[in-house]
Amino acid sequence: MLDIKAIRKDFPILSRTVYGKPLVYLDNAATSQKPSSVIETITNYYQNYNSNVHRGVHALSMEATEHYEAAREKVANFIGAPDSTCLIFVRGTTEGINLVASSWAIPNLGPGDEILLSEMEHHSNLIPWQRVAQITGAVLKFIPVTEEGVLDLENLSALINNRTKLVSVTHVSNVLGTINPVKELARKAHNVGALIMLDAAQSVPHMPVNVQDLECDFLAFSSHKMLGPTGIGGLYVRPSVLKTMQPFQSGGEMVKEVTFTSASWNDHPFQFEAGTPSISASIGLGAAVDYLQSIGMDEVRNHEMAITQYALEELKHLSEDFIFYGPNDISIRGGAISFYSDLVHPHDLGTILDQEGIAIRTGHHCAMPLVRERLKVSATARASFYIYNTESEVDQLVKALKKATRIFTNAYKKNI
Ligand code: ALA
Repeated sequence: MLDIKAIRKDFPILSRTVYGKPLVYLDNAATSQKPSSVIETITNYYQNYNSNVHRGVHALSMEATEHYEAAREKVANFIGAPDSTCLIFVRGTTEGINLVASSWAIPNLGPGDEILLSEMEHHSNLIPWQRVAQITGAVLKFIPVTEEGVLDLENLSALINNRTKLVSVTHVSNVLGTINPVKELARKAHNVGALIMLDAAQSVPHMPVNVQDLECDFLAFSSHKMLGPTGIGGLYVRPSVLKTMQPFQSGGEMVKEVTFTSASWNDHPFQFEAGTPSISASIGLGAAVDYLQSIGMDEVRNHEMAITQYALEELKHLSEDFIFYGPNDISIRGGAISFYSDLVHPHDLGTILDQEGIAIRTGHHCAMPLVRERLKVSATARASFYIYNTESEVDQLVKALKKATRIFTNAYKKNI
């Protein structure tokens, strides 16, 4: 059991109020809050050893380089990478996927090749592949999503075939909460000689993730969803694939020898990190990893299962008009719960909850095709949990949702 009371003390923002009410932060799938240790680590860099990395012989630059590379080691270790040279620092999940699209997919794919996605992808794992398809003539295919909100694998042997060159799916859905059977997909992809990429934005922060155990070739995630700063994330690439990839952006740091007319590339991962990197953010991400490891990722996942289960049960007490998306089986779902009611538009729900100090997300959650074409609603409301959330906060959510429903039902009655 997590000591939530002690954990909450580590997050200064959780003691603030919003409109005079204590903040209830339930928008963790969008971004997480930061513990003091992360904030202090970043401040310490700027106050005590701010300098560029990999460039100077002076003490500050060497210190900064040491901390930056130590952060890479921690992050690589956290996701079970075989070593830190296959962990590229990127701006976040979106940049990680774009890097794979530019540096692996565009040089390798051609007309008729197939890229297999799923119908539950976030835009960041859809639009880069739409662009790859436009440029290379490759074709996009989609694993359907069932009514229950899980991947429909019935026709998987037809979907993963000899034309498939890449399978790219989300590990955990940011809308449905579904945890996908990605290891099974990895095996099927490898059987036909395809590679597999995982969008791990919603999994790495919430559960133990080991890239070697998952047998994936590419895996991208974002620091800001796992207690770290914005503007940084990680891209793991299987070493044998990394060797074959083309550069991403070009400029300083990613080169070895340069003449007026040509250049040779640096070793990886530096080959993929052109320009001055996000030094403070990378070191801050290292501190976030330290914090999560001090709790233990099994404990993080256990807490998430418990609070999500509690929330799913309590939310059932709402009016029958509420629809909840995603699987009921807690063993295959993460801590994001999306819901919809005809009685109150999700944006109105979000606004009324905000007045109560409760932060949730409303909208299409950057997964417009899933929300509009599969769930067939214009938007949903979404509550998403993390290590500092309590059952009492779930109770406040339910109470506020009941209040919002009452307000709108009464307003509706008055109008007829
Ligand atoms: N992808 C983030 C979310 O689901 C921003 O809210």
